[in-house]
Amino acid sequence: MKPIRTAVFPVAGLGTRFLPATKVVPKEMLPIVDKPLIQYAVDEAIEAGIEHMVFVTGRGKDIIEDHFDIAYELQDTMKARGKDLSILHDTRLKPGKSSFTRQQEPLGLGHAIWCARDIVGDDPFAILLPDEFMHGSPGCMKQMVDAYEKLGGNLVCALEIPMEKTSSYGVIDPGKRDGVITEVKGLVEKPAPGTAPSNLILPGRYILQPEVMKILETQEAGAGGEIQLTDAMAQMIGRQAFHGVTFEGRRFDCGSKAGYLEANLALALDREDMRDRVRDMAVSLLNE
Ligand code: G1P
Repeated sequence: MKPIRTAVFPVAGLGTRFLPATKVVPKEMLPIVDKPLIQYAVDEAIEAGIEHMVFVTGRGKDIIEDHFDIAYELQDTMKARGKDLSILHDTRLKPGKSSFTRQQEPLGLGHAIWCARDIVGDDPFAILLPDEFMHGSPGCMKQMVDAYEKLGGNLVCALEIPMEKTSSYGVIDPGKRDGVITEVKGLVEKPAPGTAPSNLILPGRYILQPEVMKILETQEAGAGGEIQLTDAMAQMIGRQAFHGVTFEGRRFDCGSKAGYLEANLALALDREDMRDRVRDMAVSLLNE
């Protein structure tokens, strides 16, 4: 079984839900406490043993590339002032182990992933959607890679949500369940209200075999008029093993403002250096 060495991060989206904050700053660079969303996703991939990070970007997203480079001026100034540089260590990706390609038109998530086909090549690969913030120990991708080492094939993260919210997501038609592993019998993108096959959705973490790129090549537009990754994955079911992995941890939907605020609050409350002040602040605000 080939190991998962490459991760694709689709980061071309316009982030219109966070305007005006995202007029100039990519939504993936918005911080949770003091670290940008995209770095949490990259750290999650590194923890899972993934070596090569592929970013599918778009116009105006260049600062993501800068974030993962050396910042000489900053480092020299900090060094001269005797400051600790260790906070910057994880922001530097290994030389030659990152790739940036652009999705030129917003044709959908499936199209964004297909834009990475030449870089991904013939190996299985991971996909992480950075605005789905998965907080756990071990991280979500590590839990999925552990499952992959036993099962092979294709894996999607699976998350139970209230039935009435399923129409915003890719949804699993589940088969047999064994602990955290669920057989995937079908997948449907953004089912009309009342038609979802279950309340088990796809929260944006995938391990896929490279054949999905061939399918995406000719994949027609689906829900919302976009080329959907879910539709391409659905065609792999039956041809290759396909399972869902229930993540043991917390998921924050940072594509929504409330989810983003919740993640900030939760992580601040997790941190020893901030916990007490933030709790007191929250209590006092609630009592106003
Ligand atoms: C995308 C995927 C969907 C998935 C969701 C997770 O949808 O198409 O299957 O459930 O991300 O956030 P989007 O949020 O881009 O509409």
